[in-house]
Amino acid sequence: MNAFHAKYQTEIEQILAKYPPERKRSAVMPLLFLAQRDDNYISPNELADIAEILEMSVTDVASVVGFYTLFYDQHEGRYRIQVCTDLPCALRGAETFFEALCKELGVSSGGTTPDGLFTIEEVKCLAACHRAPVFQVQGDGEIAYYENQTAETALQVIAALREKAVQEARSREGAA
Ligand code: FES
Repeated sequence: MNAFHAKYQTEIEQILAKYPPERKRSAVMPLLFLAQRDDNYISPNELADIAEILEMSVTDVASVVGFYTLFYDQHEGRYRIQVCTDLPCALRGAETFFEALCKELGVSSGGTTPDGLFTIEEVKCLAACHRAPVFQVQGDGEIAYYENQTAETALQVIAALREKAVQEARSREGAA
């Protein structure tokens, strides 16, 4: 049993049980989601372990990661702030909104804040074109959507996430 399998044994067995043994490669997406859940990216070791569990080549698993924009093989911010700047949103001010967030975070598009908390990036349509500016935050194993935003409301979301990280760090220090 490899390291990834040992770490998530119960969850992996539950996922694999949903598929006939001869079709276990169909479990690749849920296993990748599991690998990404804790630290928001899939490490090379996890990639190799998933390939071994599913009896697939590492290249095949990596191609799934490469195809889907919600899977990541690079360790970046704990929270990915993904702002739609596609044309319909751009017409409602998404580019100015995106620039305001970048300025507040002190990074440019695709950049990560020095504390490792936020990566900000532009994405294509998030299916809320009429409610732009719109962004999603991917992190802590979930995706949250925010619509009809202003720079001020978005900064409140960012401040709340920052505060959550501060509180967690305090509790860890208290427990140590
Ligand atoms: S173009 Fe931005 S949500 Fe559709």
